Amino acid sequence: MNLNNKYFLLAFVFSQILILQSSLAQDALEQGRALTFTKSKGNCLACHIVENGELPGNSGPPLIQMALRFPDRSILRNQIWDASVVNPNTVMPPFGKHNILTEDEIELVVDYLLSL
Ligand code: HEC
Repeated sequence: MNLNNKYFLLAFVFSQILILQSSLAQDALEQGRALTFTKSKGNCLACHIVENGELPGNSGPPLIQMALRFPDRSILRNQIWDASVVNPNTVMPPFGKHNILTEDEIELVVDYLLSL
């Protein structure tokens, strides 16, 4: 194998790694979106407008510009874990505290929301 072939092979392998990484990240966002929209899971659409979500409710604020409004990821995560910490009278379900979503599922939802 001459030198050119080696560089080509190396470039090919790296490009495949990059493609794999971005498709895994895409899959995770898709899982987060599904958890956010599915009625038996997050059902966030019942109360929040979310991009591309159909028939949203409006008792909660629209989930837009999330990365800008939540530069601290843990604040967003804690809101979903147990909204009653910030507002004891909230109607938002405590998804983490009541095991409606698992810890991993909440992380996927947070990643998805921060992509909005
Ligand atoms: C039953 C209605 C309801 C559901 C379901 C609900 N929320 Fe909420 N949410 C609210 C309300 C109302 C607020 C406003 C703050 C408060 O009253 O506690 C809120 C606030 C928030 C906030 C803070 C928004 C801001 O702009 O400061 C985030 C983030 C949030 N909800 C995310 C979610 C996610 C993610 C889900 C789904 C996993 C969800 N909510 C499901 C009612 C709901």
